[in-house]
Amino acid sequence: MERPAWAPQGIDISVPSVSRMYDFYLGGSHNFEVDREAARKAMEFLPGLPKIMQANRAFMRRAVRYAVGEGIDQFLDIGSGIPTFGNVHEVAQAADPRAKVAYVDHDPVAVAHSQAVLEGNDLAVIAAADLRRPKEILANPAITGLLDLDRPVALLLVAVLHFIEDADDPRSAVAELREALAPGSLVILTHASYEGIPLSKEEADGTVGVYRNIRNPLIMRTREEIGAFFEGYEMVEPGLVSMPEWRPETPQSPEQEDPYAFSGFGGVGRKA
Ligand SMILES: C[S@@+](CC[C@H](N)C(=O)[O-])C[C@H]1O[C@@H](n2cnc3c(N)ncnc32)[C@H](O)[C@@H]1O
Repeated sequence: MERPAWAPQGIDISVPSVSRMYDFYLGGSHNFEVDREAARKAMEFLPGLPKIMQANRAFMRRAVRYAVGEGIDQFLDIGSGIPTFGNVHEVAQAADPRAKVAYVDHDPVAVAHSQAVLEGNDLAVIAAADLRRPKEILANPAITGLLDLDRPVALLLVAVLHFIEDADDPRSAVAELREALAPGSLVILTHASYEGIPLSKEEADGTVGVYRNIRNPLIMRTREEIGAFFEGYEMVEPGLVSMPEWRPETPQSPEQEDPYAFSGFGGVGRKA
C-alpha cells in the first residue's frame, strides 16, 4: 500500500491503530483501510460508537472552557490523538489567547499530524511520550519549556486510560502526574465503561474482542475504578457522570440524546 504524505516514515500501516480508528469514527481522513475495517467491525457490535466519541469530544470542550473560566491557562493533554476539529488549543485559545497547550501521544501519526497543525503556534507543542512513563512526560523539555508546572495546569486524560491495562499500572502513573501538579490544578478525564447504557454481553464482548485482536485492548472499568483516578482531588460538580450530563451548555432533556452517548464516564477533579 502506498504511504500518503501525512503518514510518517516507518509506521506499520498493515496494523490498525486506535488513534486512526478514532479519527475514522469522528469522520476524519487520517486513517487507512485496515483502521476502517477494524472500526467497522467494532461498530457491528456497537453501532453507537461514533456517538460515544462525539459525546467525549463535546465533554472535553466544555471541560476546557470550564478550566479557562476558573483561571487555568496551561493544559497538558495526554493521549491527545489525531487532531480533528475543536482541539484543546483551539478551544482554550479562543477563550484565552494566552493559553498554553502541551499535547502528548505515543502514536507517530498523531504526533506528525499535530506537528503540522501546530506549526506557527508558539503556545502549543506536541511531545511523543507514553502515559505509562509519567516521569519522562514531566521531564520532557518541549513540555517543561512551555508549561510552568509550579502553576496550576489542567491535565487531560480523555479517552486514553481505557487503553492502559492494569498490568501497566495506570493508577500509579496517574498518581505520579497528580502529585506533580500545583494546587489549583484540574484533572479532566473520561473513560469507557460497561456501566451506564445497558449493553448486551454480545455487544460488549464483541467490541472488546475487536480491540483485543488488534493488540490494543480496550479496558472497560467500573465507575468506582474510574473515580479512583481522581484520588486526593475534590470532584467538581456534578462529579463523575455520563458525559452528556456534565455541565451541558444547552438545556436538553436526556431523551433528546442518543442513548449511546451515555456510555462511559467523565469528570473533573481539583487539587486543593
Ligand atoms: C481515543 S483517542 C483520544 C484522543 C483525544 N484525547 C480525545 O478524546 O478526543 C486515544 C489516544 O490515546 C493515545 N494513547 C493510547 N495509549 C497511550 C499511551 N500509553 N501513551 C500516550 N498516548 C496513548 C492513542 O494513540 C490515541 O491517540
